[in-house]
Amino acid sequence: KRVVAFVSGSGSNMVKLADSCAQPDFPAEIVAVFSDKADAGGLAKAQARGIPTFAFARKDFASKEAHEEAILAELERQRPDIICLAGYMRLLSGRFIARYEGRILNIHPSLLPLFPGLDTHRRAIEAGMKIAGCTVHFVTEGMDEGPQIVQAAVPVLAGDTPADLAARVLTVEHRAYPLGLRLVAEGKVRMEGGRAVAVDAPA
Ligand code: GRF
Repeated sequence: KRVVAFVSGSGSNMVKLADSCAQPDFPAEIVAVFSDKADAGGLAKAQARGIPTFAFARKDFASKEAHEEAILAELERQRPDIICLAGYMRLLSGRFIARYEGRILNIHPSLLPLFPGLDTHRRAIEAGMKIAGCTVHFVTEGMDEGPQIVQAAVPVLAGDTPADLAARVLTVEHRAYPLGLRLVAEGKVRMEGGRAVAVDAPA
């Protein structure tokens, strides 16, 4: 399966996906990495792995629509089967999501439906949570509310700062995302009727 990954920052999740895809039996390959930031650390990491990169700086475009048009045009050329948002900090339009319905994955650093949006680790600590974690989910129009594919949990420890918790969650993100991508690429999980459906093992 052809995968295009989208990053805005360090791209540590993209790196883990790329490393998993590099394993011979993995059912997907990352054919390109896109970013909305020309200086995203993830772009350099992709280039270091020989993966083509495409940067679309928002300031180079007259409008949000033009920006997304340019991204969609290049995306068509890449013919992705699956799109993996990996630390991508921009919302996709309904048109974009509809075009790739059921084929866009995201990783969010909380146990959804708890703590959608930003600053999840500080919020979990302030809420007194004893566990936290991440969610790999299909992307739908609403932010951080698509059907869930994989979740992974970690303990919240006394005295944790948001940075402590973020680092602990990141370690399980790096295992959850490759697993989620594998399940979707193998056709073992798919989005059906707005839900993530486990597909029975082939007879
Ligand atoms: C991670 O916490 C991820 O859950 C969120 O963005 C953060 C940075 O990800 N989506 P990365 O290191 O850029 O992959």
